[in-house]
Amino acid sequence: MSLASQQSAISAPDYEAFRRYLQDACGILLGDNKQYLVASRLAQILRENQIDSLAELISRIRQMRYNDLRQAVIDAMTTNETLWFRDTYPFEVLMSQIYPGFKGQNQPVRIWCAACSSGQEPYSISMTTEEYLMRAPGALPGGVQIVGTDISAQMLKLAEQGKYEHLSLARGLSPERKQRFFESVDNGERWQIKANIRRRCSFRPLNLMDAYTPLGRHEIVFCRNVLIYFSADLKAKIIDKIANSLQPRGYLFLGASESMAGLSERFEMIRCNPGIVYRLK
Ligand SMILES: C[S@@+](CC[C@H](N)C(=O)[O-])C[C@H]1O[C@@H](n2cnc3c(N)ncnc32)[C@H](O)[C@@H]1O
Repeated sequence: MSLASQQSAISAPDYEAFRRYLQDACGILLGDNKQYLVASRLAQILRENQIDSLAELISRIRQMRYNDLRQAVIDAMTTNETLWFRDTYPFEVLMSQIYPGFKGQNQPVRIWCAACSSGQEPYSISMTTEEYLMRAPGALPGGVQIVGTDISAQMLKLAEQGKYEHLSLARGLSPERKQRFFESVDNGERWQIKANIRRRCSFRPLNLMDAYTPLGRHEIVFCRNVLIYFSADLKAKIIDKIANSLQPRGYLFLGASESMAGLSERFEMIRCNPGIVYRLK
């Protein structure tokens, strides 16, 4: 019987050990009764690797900090839900309130998209940039550089390819933007984001639990819909590290359901109606 169909196959100590492992490895905090979720998400990995129990899996992935099995477990346990122009307001605020403040800047405006999943967020930022520059040609002479990072190797691969199926394009992308910014590829089965939008974006692996210094400093950070999976302590630490990685008076966007309340005093909240953006004090 597969582990997925036998929730009781996960003993309480094994579940506790896996919860601790996942939190140490990537910050994700599993609730008390998520044995079913763990069993269903890991079933294929266990089957393919002929591993009989969660205890054996943990022992194998603990042997090395980076290995394929560990990466597969993290890929399976992360929630990669994303869409184009998610919540709309961050992109409108970027266009109408933030970019005008960088008018004439000869250095690139550097944007970090932490936890970028399959690329919809960084590419939405790049499309917004293109639309801004169509309205204000030459306004950002230094250009815009967007780096997308994620812990999931699988998601980063998709993001780098920038190819999407019809169904995922339908999620948040208007027909006008699809026509303007995508081209049909793979015999019409998928649509690829055009080179002029892609070239502003680069992708690299980064675990938010690790140091951010290799990325350098950014004017703007999007860290959206990932902190919800972490404990309050960890959220506070990550926000502090993001603050250290921002340029003076840099901006931070959180997810629409996420808030800075009780986590950091280093930002001021700017109400944008609709939406909120945080600015380093
Ligand atoms: C729900 S998606 C959010 C994607 C996008 N930011 C958005 O708002 O649509 C969360 C992403 O966070 C990534 N993630 C989870 N834990 C992470 C960690 N410790 N470090 C980096 N990325 C992580 C997951 O792989 C996933 O792609």
